[in-house]
Amino acid sequence: MDIATSGGAPLEAEVDHLIIFTTKGDDLISSGTAGALNDALDGGLAPLVESGELEGGKSETVLLHSFGRIPAGRVVLAGIGKPEQAELDDVRNAAARAARKAREIGGGTVGVAVDGEGCGWTREELGSAIAEGLELGLYRFDRHRTPTKTPNTLEAATLFGGEPGAIGRGVSRGRALAGAANFARDLANEPSNVLTPTELAARAEAWAGEHDVEIEILDEAAARELGMGSFLGVAAGSHQPARFLILRHRGGGEEAGLGYCGKGITFDTGGISIKPAANMEAMKQDMSGAAAVVASMGAIADLGLPINVTALAPCTENMPGGAAIKPGDLLTAMNGTTIEVINTDAEGRLVLADALSYANHLGLSPLIDVATLTGACAVALGDVATGVMANDDELAREVIDAGKAAGEKFWQLPMFSEYEEQIRSQVADIKNTGGRLAGAITAAKFLARFAGETPWAHLDMAGTDDANKTRGVFVKGATGIPVRSLVRFAEARAAAEGNDS
Ligand code: BES
Ligand code: MN
Ligand code: ZN
Repeated sequence: MDIATSGGAPLEAEVDHLIIFTTKGDDLISSGTAGALNDALDGGLAPLVESGELEGGKSETVLLHSFGRIPAGRVVLAGIGKPEQAELDDVRNAAARAARKAREIGGGTVGVAVDGEGCGWTREELGSAIAEGLELGLYRFDRHRTPTKTPNTLEAATLFGGEPGAIGRGVSRGRALAGAANFARDLANEPSNVLTPTELAARAEAWAGEHDVEIEILDEAAARELGMGSFLGVAAGSHQPARFLILRHRGGGEEAGLGYCGKGITFDTGGISIKPAANMEAMKQDMSGAAAVVASMGAIADLGLPINVTALAPCTENMPGGAAIKPGDLLTAMNGTTIEVINTDAEGRLVLADALSYANHLGLSPLIDVATLTGACAVALGDVATGVMANDDELAREVIDAGKAAGEKFWQLPMFSEYEEQIRSQVADIKNTGGRLAGAITAAKFLARFAGETPWAHLDMAGTDDANKTRGVFVKGATGIPVRSLVRFAEARAAAEGNDS
């Protein structure tokens, strides 16, 4: 969608739909654009307030027809809640909701009134939040459906408000963030017979090309050369050749830079320890971690962040078959650690073992890995929060803060040394499962062996990579979590390091 800015008055906008944000409380229809609209309608909003139809609450969307009183055909009033409590994420969600409403009732063009000075946000922050909300909220994945009728589309949006230049800078930033999240969604929503490791590599290559990111794609022979026995062990059962993706953004600084590792299982059958049939189709999304780290690199490059960042994504299917690894088998990871495979369905940690080893080999620091790793994490935190486990509490804090700014929730789980007992092996250095208790943490403890001394945080998004219903910026299906947090994390790091761009 095309998103423009204008310093003109929103109530004079010649658009099909005008989106106006409303706040809960006394100012609801007495100030800002909602106030101006009420005046233009000769106090016509008051009865809606009296009847309780219009309150300005966080999930409220009220549709009005303008009957020629203003040039816009319709008005969508989208609530963001009490002004003293409202966050930018409420603006993102309101923009997303309102845009979907406008599309649903016909599409065309939309104007957005950039209000919100009352909440203390800058024009740039507002422009960014609105653009992010529009792009994320309007996302749909319909490339494999034959349309029965022409779907409604919103063709163009214009953001109306003072300091259009500042709003425009925000729009570019919001579009970069949402564009990356939507790319990750596209990858994760794709069926596994379409998005094989080879196809994932091809799409990552195209993405890297579009965003001026360097990319290197290792095939199985190259991975073998590097000693990635753990990653290749998982790949052994599949007829689809595995790929290990390396994307680099060189933004500046002396260090090798940040390392983002993403689990790229394009389909997880469980392998020989095969999964039950119910819901197995959801395992086409077991590459959302890889999708997230690859996608985030596009936005990091678009924003020209003055920091070096490398994304690593080990990509393979996890299949049973004559060549597949079996319970009891022994694998040796790139860092020399020997692994006893107890359950072939605990494959994510096996591929990440080599990604983290390779990240250390490259000298990357800090490391953040992203994975749909354990059902246990989904049981603990549901579809609301992504689990964070780290060997460095300060780093965990930074990730959580980046998530707050992004509107992506994280919650830290403990990494007490007692948990390590559960993954001790009699035949190897470590085994790949630790029993039923604390499954998310024992998986993280396994990964910790490969992160070594490097500051590292592990994000388990088994519960949050997919939304079972549309809510605000999240559209049913792949969420694109934690792309926007990863970009903000890099941004915060770059700012803290004070590198020159
Ligand atoms: N990809 C799954 C985890 C998962 C489950 C993600 C449900 C999203 C929704 C992972 O590879 C897996 O199978 N984990 C096992 C580990 C167990 C065998 C120790 C699990 O969580 O059951
Ligand atoms: Mn599995
Ligand atoms: Zn998996």
